[in-house]
Amino acid sequence: MNFIPDRFRNQCVLVVGGAQGIGKGIAVRLAREGASVMIGDVDQGMMVQTQGEITAEGGSVRTVLCDVRRKRDVQRMVAQTLRWQKRIDVMTYVAGVAELVPFTKSDEKHWDWTMDINLKGAYLVAREVAPHMVKCHRGKLVFMASTNSWDAEAELAPYNASKAGIFLLAKTLARELGKYGINSNAIGPGLIRTRLTAPIVKDKTFMSKYKNLIPVGRLGEPEDVAGPVAFLASSDADYINGVLLFVDGGQLA
Ligand SMILES: NC(=O)c1ccc[n+]([C@@H]2O[C@H](COP(=O)([O-])OP(=O)(O)OC[C@H]3O[C@@H](n4cnc5c(N)ncnc54)[C@H](O)[C@@H]3O)[C@@H](O)[C@H]2O)c1
Repeated sequence: MNFIPDRFRNQCVLVVGGAQGIGKGIAVRLAREGASVMIGDVDQGMMVQTQGEITAEGGSVRTVLCDVRRKRDVQRMVAQTLRWQKRIDVMTYVAGVAELVPFTKSDEKHWDWTMDINLKGAYLVAREVAPHMVKCHRGKLVFMASTNSWDAEAELAPYNASKAGIFLLAKTLARELGKYGINSNAIGPGLIRTRLTAPIVKDKTFMSKYKNLIPVGRLGEPEDVAGPVAFLASSDADYINGVLLFVDGGQLA
């Protein structure tokens, strides 16, 4: 993985959903580039493992248990980050879930579970972090959307709706907070190899068809997403506000 040493030196980055998968890739990358990284996640075991890996490389990292569905957890996560570093320069919202359910078999519980984690959690975190960024007159918000923000997939109604919603949340904040020196953008990964996609990646028939749909001819890895997130979180992206950057090997080309 390429990285730019010191790009985030003296910066504090909050990675919500950073225990594993894409979020872990982002946490590792930004720590390598000099950031102090706070990981908030509901999975304590994976968080501790990721913290250990970053610390072993000499990175600066802390963790805090946070269920993004709980406002109190979110408030505690943000308060601990501010107590630690006195600032939050970058917030990346990566926490997310997806479960295939045929629409006619779906229920309210499944809808609420998906929406609460993928979308409401993003609102709760942004609502807590934004006032500090406004006060400092600087900040980068990067929300994890998806190719599903644009192209729907069957049996994923709440997931598709939540990912369209998080993009429009990112755009709304771009419009509203731009004047305070805050950039708000979204990233739209295609199919990335993580725990979330492990069941479909194992399905050889699905994969043989799917690979043909990706012009670069391979699945994405968390590191493929971490680089573009680092770019949007950096000063190179100071004039980028309100975009959805697809990272999909050309799947939507
Ligand atoms: N993997 C893909 O192909 C892909 C494609 C497009 C978008 N995405 C999005 O990227 C994000 C990360 O996905 P991933 O593939 O790395 O999945 P993952 O399952 O590996 O990681 C998701 C992380 O979110 C955390 N999380 C789940 N519920 C939470 C909660 N209530 N509170 C706090 N944290 C919680 C998990 O513990 C986990 O660490 C998700 O938003 C997902 O929708 C993934």
